[in-house]
Amino acid sequence: MKRLKPEEDAFGQEIWACYKGEEAFEIVERDDGYFNASPKGPGLYFLEYEDWDPIDRKSMEYVKGRVLDIGCGAGRHSLYLQKMGLSVLGIDSSPLAIEVCKLRGLKQARVMPIEELNFKPNSFDTVIMLGSNFGLFGSFEKAKRLLKKLHKMTSENGLIIASTRDTYKTDIADHLEYHKRNKEKGRMPGQLKVRIRFRKCVGKWFDYLIVSKKEMEEILKGTGWKIKEFIDSDDSAYIAAIEKT
Ligand SMILES: C[S@@+](CC[C@H](N)C(=O)[O-])C[C@H]1O[C@@H](n2cnc3c(N)ncnc32)[C@H](O)[C@@H]1O
Repeated sequence: MKRLKPEEDAFGQEIWACYKGEEAFEIVERDDGYFNASPKGPGLYFLEYEDWDPIDRKSMEYVKGRVLDIGCGAGRHSLYLQKMGLSVLGIDSSPLAIEVCKLRGLKQARVMPIEELNFKPNSFDTVIMLGSNFGLFGSFEKAKRLLKKLHKMTSENGLIIASTRDTYKTDIADHLEYHKRNKEKGRMPGQLKVRIRFRKCVGKWFDYLIVSKKEMEEILKGTGWKIKEFIDSDDSAYIAAIEKT
């Protein structure tokens, strides 16, 4: 596995700066030149349970057994579940994010990109992908491939708890134009090609997938997974509890 160098680890740099109490912003650049600066920034990744979005809090009711947190960031969900007595492993492609998780007390934290998931069969009971981390599935085909892999790594009653945003719940012209352009290229409308910028650090381009509920159901077909329940918010964000068929 090729580890990200600190100068490539934009996600990690912003999480590290925030951990040190420095002012930090999250800037996401899309490949059509659209920039999004999150007003809450990486501070969001450090929030305590009481301050999470209600849907994130609700989703914790589904979590059981041995937990894998994919793209764990600064470890807010992992640390909460560890405190609740569960065995949790947080993985992230960012070495700096994993360093922060360890410094914050997460007992099991490992640098591992989702593309290199490598665990024995029946290693976990719940996989969480929160903070819109369904997006890490990247594309229709990659999602199917990784879901099949996750199927093997989880127990018979395994669950995936994943959050995303409904692509189509927007009226922003730039987004609508981007969806159209993606479709013309044979990509999913919500298959966003983005990179993270922090200070002088520019991360690599990667595909981040946002999907409607219908699209998620299409992706799950043939992977051994199906929707158990959707947890809705009052905006475009939602969480899916996904169970084995
Ligand atoms: C939006 S943040 C969410 C963090 C955390 N789940 C939360 O909600 O606080 C996305 C995280 O995914 C990580 N990430 C990005 N690409 C990844 C990949 N290919 N494999 C694993 N983690 C990845 C980033 O480093 C970052 O920590």
